[in-house]
Amino acid sequence: MKTPHKRLLFILCGIMVVGFIYFSSRKLRLVWGLKPQRDPAETTVGLTKGAEVKRITVYDEQGFLLKLDKKLPPEWVNKYGNLSEGVCKPGYAAAKMTAIYPKFMNPAPMFLDRNFFKTPSKLLSKVSKYLPPFGFRTQERVIDSILSATKNYGLGAALDSLSCKRCVILGNGGVLLNKSLGPRIDDYDVVVRLNEAPVSGYVKDVGTKTTIRITYPEGAMQKPEKYDKDSLFVLSAFKPLDFKWLKQMVFKEKLRGTEGFWKSVARNVLQEPNEIRILNPYFIQEAAFQFIGLPSNNGLMGKGNIPTLGTVAITMALHNCDEVAVAGFSYNMNTPNALLHYYNKTVKMSAVKESWTHNIAKEKEFLRKLVKANVITDLTNGI
Ligand SMILES: *[C@@H]1O[C@H](CO)[C@@H](O)[C@H](O)[C@H]1NC(C)=O
Ligand SMILES: *[C@@H]1O[C@H](CO)[C@@H](O)[C@H](O)[C@H]1NC(C)=O
Repeated sequence: MKTPHKRLLFILCGIMVVGFIYFSSRKLRLVWGLKPQRDPAETTVGLTKGAEVKRITVYDEQGFLLKLDKKLPPEWVNKYGNLSEGVCKPGYAAAKMTAIYPKFMNPAPMFLDRNFFKTPSKLLSKVSKYLPPFGFRTQERVIDSILSATKNYGLGAALDSLSCKRCVILGNGGVLLNKSLGPRIDDYDVVVRLNEAPVSGYVKDVGTKTTIRITYPEGAMQKPEKYDKDSLFVLSAFKPLDFKWLKQMVFKEKLRGTEGFWKSVARNVLQEPNEIRILNPYFIQEAAFQFIGLPSNNGLMGKGNIPTLGTVAITMALHNCDEVAVAGFSYNMNTPNALLHYYNKTVKMSAVKESWTHNIAKEKEFLRKLVKANVITDLTNGI
């Protein structure tokens, strides 16, 4: 190698080292800035020989604490420590979440609200700039028309006024079978079911109560008589067409333009407009890009960047429930013959294929953090 090349290489190395030190020290300040009360011993920094900067961060790539345990942070021990077992702990899920994930932004309303559009906020700017499923850009008029008909944007007076809400999200996994969790599930203030998950015939294991049922058009029950009475029908929209579909359901119109759906969809929804809601798309955005760390793809739907509905529902609950439990979530691929869904006796775990839209492995990692730190309680121990 000729000398000028060597010199160039030398200068380049120097620039890189300086750049690395600068970058690392900025990151470090960020870490300390976010959690000033944390023991600095946990954030060790060692400068060795001026060339290498060794930084042991306390947070992982997504911003979650690396060392997770079920202990309450000291500042919460007094608040919750004395409450007896089973008493609802106000703000517990958000507090525990913030302890392991300082960037957690609370609150984020459960459903889209007509007034939400009128008051500029940090949250609104986050969802109004993205196209579905990560926001509602281009769909404002359809949404406004839906919301002007539904007129209700909460869970209902009784639940909205509770000072402490305990929620359970039911995934549809076969792990729910034969555990007789029904009565325990019914005990929660808010029971969230997903898509077509049936109640009748499975009451012993899945309970009877449905507070809200979150679906997208292809997942919605197609036999209206199967809909739970006294529950809210909640749309989680994954594409613009989903909002148009909901508008036709709300106004009880004949369904047209079904070419864009990936399977047949429900043609009517039993609930009256005042029992229909739109899930805040912020939860899809936050779950995908912040919690799970899926590729942003410039904010557009792309390969492997859509969270599953179950994780979207859990994200919603972290913002809106004081305590969060889940049941029926299972990622155990070591039992290929176990049933995938509790309501289908033929589809086994082994049927789970590599998915184009989801990244199950990364999603599971995220949910494991929540369970490990006791942010959520997993009633069926499948996560
Ligand atoms: C909880 O108990 C501790 C000690 O037993 C006491 O100092 C503290 O004030 C109690 N906190 C509440 C909220 O009652
Ligand atoms: C649940 O119990 C029924 C009846 O005892 C049995 O036939 C079935 O195999 C069990 N299912 C699972 C998943 O354990």
